[in-house]
Amino acid sequence: MKPTYYLTTPIFYVNGAPHIGHAYTMIAADVLARWKRLAGYDVFFLTGTDEHGQKVEKAAADAGKDPQTFTDEVSAIFADIARRMNITNDQFIRTTEPRHKAASQAIWKQLEANGHIYLGGYEGWYAVRDESFYDEAELVTNAQGQKLAPTGAPVEYVTEPSYFFRMSSFGERLIAHIEANPDFIGPRERRNEVLGFLKSPEGLKDLSISRTSFRWGVPVPGDDAHVMYVWLDALTNYITAIGYPDMTGPLAKFWPADLHLVGKDILRFHAVIWPAMLLAADLPLPKRVFAHGWWTVEGEKMSKSVGNVIDPRELADAFGVDPLRFFLLRETTFGTDGDFSRASLIRRMNVELANDLGNLAQRTLSFIAKNAGGVMPKRGETTPEDATLAAHRDALVASVGAAIDRQAFHEALETIWVVIRSGNAYIDQQAPWTLKKADLVRMEAVLANLLDLLRVVSTLLQPFMPESMAKMLDQLGVPADARDFASLATPIAEGTALPPPAGVFPRFVEAA
Ligand code: MSP
Repeated sequence: MKPTYYLTTPIFYVNGAPHIGHAYTMIAADVLARWKRLAGYDVFFLTGTDEHGQKVEKAAADAGKDPQTFTDEVSAIFADIARRMNITNDQFIRTTEPRHKAASQAIWKQLEANGHIYLGGYEGWYAVRDESFYDEAELVTNAQGQKLAPTGAPVEYVTEPSYFFRMSSFGERLIAHIEANPDFIGPRERRNEVLGFLKSPEGLKDLSISRTSFRWGVPVPGDDAHVMYVWLDALTNYITAIGYPDMTGPLAKFWPADLHLVGKDILRFHAVIWPAMLLAADLPLPKRVFAHGWWTVEGEKMSKSVGNVIDPRELADAFGVDPLRFFLLRETTFGTDGDFSRASLIRRMNVELANDLGNLAQRTLSFIAKNAGGVMPKRGETTPEDATLAAHRDALVASVGAAIDRQAFHEALETIWVVIRSGNAYIDQQAPWTLKKADLVRMEAVLANLLDLLRVVSTLLQPFMPESMAKMLDQLGVPADARDFASLATPIAEGTALPPPAGVFPRFVEAA
């Protein structure tokens, strides 16, 4: 029986076109999903679209379309982005699916049966852009005297009948859970923020969980005048996908989720509201919620009004999907903000992909093709330099795996790059081109060491750059069914024929 691993991305609002921020969450989660599969896990990887609520209803109206037609169209764009980014999600959930309405109504009824829902009235501020309620004290006033949410979103004053979730009664249990489980929320600073919020004098309040001023949502069971607050339905997607309310099928196998990967803006929904809902419904809590940072573009916040929203498909067309995936996880510490610029993407492509990794592979493979019969060379006696290189190589899978388990993708890549650079130093130092004239046995041994190194590096980089690494592993003579981590223990047999080498990472030259 394989161990299981269930991970999720947030489901994306279908109010507008996807941009690199959305692709980022998907790609990071995909790297993790692919890594865990290669490490022998039975992975369930979920992404999808969040299609209800006032924001989506408005966007549909602005587009002159009925909400269902509109969400069908925009959801298909997100699914296309996932496909183009090579995302290996096992399911793509849409919150307008009947099974999801059923699951949302089921959890509502469970909360109600457990005595955690009551009818009242909401009077206060609401930001449609954030789909979030705000206290008067949280609001800021801009230069024009307009009241805004702390996120900068416009707010409106709402007075309407509303059902409430008795969230306030879960504060103590949440604090205790977060304190007893240091890995429940990452990164660490964000965990402290959540604890600070829960322990603040205002503490946890009851949450308004239904709306009556518009129709685009899941109807509240037994009271059709209300639709559910969009976050209540959205968060439930994580259990809809595995069969809730049926507790015996995939849910029994995959719940609790191993990881909810989210952006920093929606951590509180995932680290406070969702766990409170689960506690209230007698369901176990996810093992971890990790919040990543936000991307700006060429130093500016991405926005429709600035006109700097980048479609990740355009970037993939211009630079390739793998360099884009690599760049997004390499450029900045996962968990902090980053700035996207074409210049830094091109720099990393040329320095790290073309020079460091591409050259190491190209130099080794073309040398073997020309001077060692185009086959896996014979391994020889081990010198101290060989032993050092091999030790670094063999430590990689564990150290990179540990970084990935902490969602430290940048660190995982840096660890691999240290070894790639030492491979380049090794080839310069050992100079097989000199050995060619003096010591063919040693020349072969050096080349074999380099191929053994390249094989490990390419195997571990598959989750980050799946297409390029498939090409690389083809050239290294690694059979398609021997590319998981367990296969690393079986070296490529000496004499294995290698296909003619072809560069995997060409230098990127900006068109004049
Ligand atoms: N629908 C909610 C999530 C519900 S999950 C039960 C939502 N959707 S969203 O489309 O607005 O955002 C989806 C994800 O994209 C979030 O994790 C958000 O942080 C991320 N990003 C949106 N803009 C981003 C950047 N500029 N940079 C990085 N990530 C960004 O929130």
